[in-house]
Amino acid sequence: MNIKVNIQHTGNFLAVDEIHSYQHDIDRHYYSILKKTGKGNDFLGWVDLPSEIDEAIISSIEHLAEKIRKKAEIFVVIGIGGSYLGARAVIEALSHNFQFLKKDNKNPLVIFAGQNLGEDYLADLLEILDHKDYAITVISKSGTTTEPAVAFRILKNHIEKKYGKQEAGERIIAITDKGRGALKKLATEEGYQTFIVPDDIGGRYSVLTPVGLLPIAVAGFNLKKLIKGARDMQELNLQTSSIEKNPMTLYAAVRNALYKNGKLVEILVNYQPNLYFFTEWWKQLYGESEGKEGRGIFPAGVNFTSDLHSMGQYIQEGQRILFETVLSIEKPNKNLAVPTDKNDPDGLNYIAGKKLHEVNNMAEIATALAHVDGGVPNIRIQVPQVNEYYLGQLIYFFEMACAISGYILKVNPFDQPGVEAYKNNMFALLGKPGFEKETEKIRKLI
Ligand code: PA5
Repeated sequence: MNIKVNIQHTGNFLAVDEIHSYQHDIDRHYYSILKKTGKGNDFLGWVDLPSEIDEAIISSIEHLAEKIRKKAEIFVVIGIGGSYLGARAVIEALSHNFQFLKKDNKNPLVIFAGQNLGEDYLADLLEILDHKDYAITVISKSGTTTEPAVAFRILKNHIEKKYGKQEAGERIIAITDKGRGALKKLATEEGYQTFIVPDDIGGRYSVLTPVGLLPIAVAGFNLKKLIKGARDMQELNLQTSSIEKNPMTLYAAVRNALYKNGKLVEILVNYQPNLYFFTEWWKQLYGESEGKEGRGIFPAGVNFTSDLHSMGQYIQEGQRILFETVLSIEKPNKNLAVPTDKNDPDGLNYIAGKKLHEVNNMAEIATALAHVDGGVPNIRIQVPQVNEYYLGQLIYFFEMACAISGYILKVNPFDQPGVEAYKNNMFALLGKPGFEKETEKIRKLI
């Protein structure tokens, strides 16, 4: 069984012909991705990655994960953007919802750092690490990103004080590119075990490289199943570019058709909280890939039913520029029903005996109908279950659809030139050597 795209609830907004009018364009983009001839073609290593993943790397990641599991209660993953969101998306989707409170954890708790500059965040983390055994992976493809570099400097200090330099060196793993960047140099000098991020895979497409795989393995999840899911989706994609048979090209066509009809914001909807970070990963993938040159669908996210009590009002009746894409999970992993109460004080006996998932499912259907009525088209991605295999499918599905969508929008989906603007200003404000002129200019503005 594969994930499916259901566009039944876009029917009021889009004619079938309109969706099919994208087929010709999609065919061109599909082949240019497979043949690596389009814009940004030096960043297409992710396209064949699932089928070409090096088994030796997987084994060495699994072996290392086993070692870390034995000596660490906490595994700190330092990285930002594509260097942390994929791992976090998968780990949180698969973990116990209250993992941090469980006493019988066989695997280290994976904690993220370097994804912000909050002083309190890192100071709080150090307080915890004072009393726990831990190991670190520092992930930065460029090896020069400020947020993870700052966090790593602080944590390196801490871990060296705690364990001594030699033992600390054995508890630090670097994941970076093969040649450039300060991190690679530092890792070589210090003798850290290092994994390489391939040159032709950008951060947000890197979850199936050691960037995502090491943290996921340390958290105790099955890499082979994750990769198998991605591989099956890759194979499905290779069969045809037809919108009727390929869910990735269908999704790319429908979202672009909606965008052309004034639906400028796509909201990824989940109905279970452990998918929160999957949405964050998706937001980065689509936002950074498409939002450029004054174009691009704005990717937003909501967590239902919680957000029906906050954002629901806006979605139902606010500006009509929205469409929703729902991650519709068909089968929960656990089992819980609403109990019967013979006095029925809360009047809930009418759903007694029903599984919570069934109630959630009714909320999903009811919401889709209400929102469609209110002018919000609804794409449904049907996912049989949340497990490694289907997360692997979803990862490849969204990556491929994103690349095709970006090409339909006539942008390069593999660069992120806009991210530099804030960095340059920040370096100027902080007085980084080499930014003297910018520093002089910017200080006059504040
Ligand atoms: O998708 C991307 O390329 C970015 O989000 C990067 O992952 C992010 O900026 C972190 O970069 P780096 O891994 O070089 O530190």
